[in-house]
Amino acid sequence: MQVTMRSENHIGYVTLSNPPVNAIGQVLRMGLLEAVRWAERGRLDRVIVSGAGGVFAAGADAKEFDAAPQEPHLPEVLNAIDESFVPWIAAIEGVALGGGAEIAMACRMRIMAPGARIGLPEVTLGVIPGAGGTARLPRLVGLQKAVEMITTGKPIGAQEACSAGLVHTVEDDPIEAAFLVNSEALGCIVPTWEYHAPAHDADLFRMARENLQAKMPGQEAPVRALAVIEAGLALPFHAALAHERQVFLELKTGSQSKALRHLFFAQRAAKAPAHLKGAALEVQHAVVVGGGTMGAGIAYALVSSGVQVTILEADADGLKRAEDNIGKIIAASLSRGMIDAARAADLRSRLTLSTEYSQAATAQLAIEAAFEDMAVKQEILGKLDAVLSADAVLATNTSYLDLNEMAAPLMDPTRVIGLHFFAPAHIMKLLEIVQGAQSSDRAMATGYALAKRLGKVPVRAGVCDGFIGNRILARYREAADTVFMDGSTPWEVDDAMVEFGYAMGPYEAQDLSGLDIAYANRQRQAATRDPNRRYVPIADRMIELGKLGRKTGAGWYRYPGGGGKVEDPIVADLAIEEAHFSGITRTDYSSQEIRQRLVLAMINEAADILDAGIAQSAGDIDLVTVFGYGFPRWRGGLMHYADSLGVEKIVAQLEILAQEDTVAWKVSPFLRRCADAGQSLAEARPMR
Ligand code: 3HC
Repeated sequence: MQVTMRSENHIGYVTLSNPPVNAIGQVLRMGLLEAVRWAERGRLDRVIVSGAGGVFAAGADAKEFDAAPQEPHLPEVLNAIDESFVPWIAAIEGVALGGGAEIAMACRMRIMAPGARIGLPEVTLGVIPGAGGTARLPRLVGLQKAVEMITTGKPIGAQEACSAGLVHTVEDDPIEAAFLVNSEALGCIVPTWEYHAPAHDADLFRMARENLQAKMPGQEAPVRALAVIEAGLALPFHAALAHERQVFLELKTGSQSKALRHLFFAQRAAKAPAHLKGAALEVQHAVVVGGGTMGAGIAYALVSSGVQVTILEADADGLKRAEDNIGKIIAASLSRGMIDAARAADLRSRLTLSTEYSQAATAQLAIEAAFEDMAVKQEILGKLDAVLSADAVLATNTSYLDLNEMAAPLMDPTRVIGLHFFAPAHIMKLLEIVQGAQSSDRAMATGYALAKRLGKVPVRAGVCDGFIGNRILARYREAADTVFMDGSTPWEVDDAMVEFGYAMGPYEAQDLSGLDIAYANRQRQAATRDPNRRYVPIADRMIELGKLGRKTGAGWYRYPGGGGKVEDPIVADLAIEEAHFSGITRTDYSSQEIRQRLVLAMINEAADILDAGIAQSAGDIDLVTVFGYGFPRWRGGLMHYADSLGVEKIVAQLEILAQEDTVAWKVSPFLRRCADAGQSLAEARPMR
């Protein structure tokens, strides 16, 4: 039974009970409808509805979204609550999200516990509220707040909900408070559906629409939600609900909602494999070696999760730099209102900076974040190996280097893993956990436990140059440089990828991170590079010209006065020159052709990565590309997108491109096998 009912002294107590989050599926909907009739039959004074397990309800059961909707539908159930002569009171603990918030809004009264949150996050799953949210919320909180909550999907806390008029009071024990509500006062509260809709405000809708176009380009659900709220204002309540439902059902079967749901569940599936259960070390003290941008971000993430952190630096200059970097992160967090002064002082008090490795002795975990040089990293790991206790875990934040080679000289290479954070490390969600040939279960389990504690999305990666994400990135950039040299400009390439849904294209992104990092990497790979593979020299010329990106005032773009980007004809000329030297006749690529080349290059490489066992599943590659590299979330990640195109079609397109360059566009054998077997990338398992 997912809904339990009991009555005492004419008060009905209805509990939603579908662990872990009381997701609202068909059985729960049936139970709720039965509870309405039960309360009416008993002519109860009121019903107090709450959720079991400290959660009100997390919304409609998204696992049911792929199937046809089953009766009773949630809007009918909620109309029955709203229109019942027995008044319902929602006693909200934990979260009331989506359909959960819609249940609460159909009640006559809402009482919230202080730490609870309420919201309509449907747009984050690519749909709009489908059980009255777009009609009831504006009636309760007004247009401005309703538009903000529904189009961003961001839940709000109890105090804010109370100030907005969404809930009546905030009480430590909402069920007890609901019991104490005076019957006469309760009888005077008008059912939500009888509230007047707010007046239309053309300016508000225009500004909201512009805002969505700027901030969430390409995403369908927020814009549709806005239109549904607006249309609903001119309709009688029940007609507004019918319109909302129709749009909800349409979006639910659309590609964006499928993609976003895929990511939602892939993110939740990304946890430590069962065999690692119980093996993790509990980290109270961690050492971060190197207080550069990356190290400082990692240290800040660690102290924010309650870990004591020692940053080790080589000398006084290093300490000063680390201190400055940490100071900048704290100042930015303060100015954005993410922390207050007391929290800043608390975080700072958990952080020590030192040049003495002896300070690391009590740490359970060390993360080296020095620059990408094998000898430097080996020396650091050697020093840590000598000073940390034998069971401590040693991690490297290397982006490319061979973990096995790095760990080989240590007394105990089994304690080494890669923890590849993404800049800025305290914000970006992805954490690649790199498993070396000898990494122990305890070291891996500790990596996963840390990811959970830091609120990161963990993805296990095997050892190769660039692991999962940077290996794909290298091919993306190679395809971009080839398109640039053979006919486009960096800004045409960037525009094409922004149209696809990236926040910025590959050239603007490189300007932000600095062209020197990729250059150092190309130098490192020079000796082992396939001599038959085409090499585009333009990025090297940029280094010769001192154009390293934003930090030097110019990269692929110019940034006069440190401001916004400006196209640079000198850069465009570089490609014309290089093409001339190489005897290439340049061609015009359409945006569609540019996108196709860059995306196919990534898919082809990702398939090889999967085949080689560097990534465990197509879903893991989706998580990497979305949470580490800005692949548009609403496309579900690289491999989900590939499956939506169809593997056979991808192979056919790659074969056409291979006529131009057999090496760069060599079709991944894994893709070919999937196409031959008629399997999607999500279903296929590599032959290992
Ligand atoms: N449907 C189905 N399963 C859900 C779910 C949902 N709406 N919400 C959470 N779950 C599942 C998760 O998949 C996970 O399952 P697992 O243990 O098998 O991996 C389990 O519940 C616990 O979830 P989390 O791991 O996310 O637990 P947290 O404590 O970190 O977070 C939460 C809990 C804040 C409720 C978070 O899960 C969440 O944000 N859920 C989605 C909320 C949402 O988007 N609701 C809107 C749904 S659409 C809707 O309601 C339409 C309506 O308008 C008609």
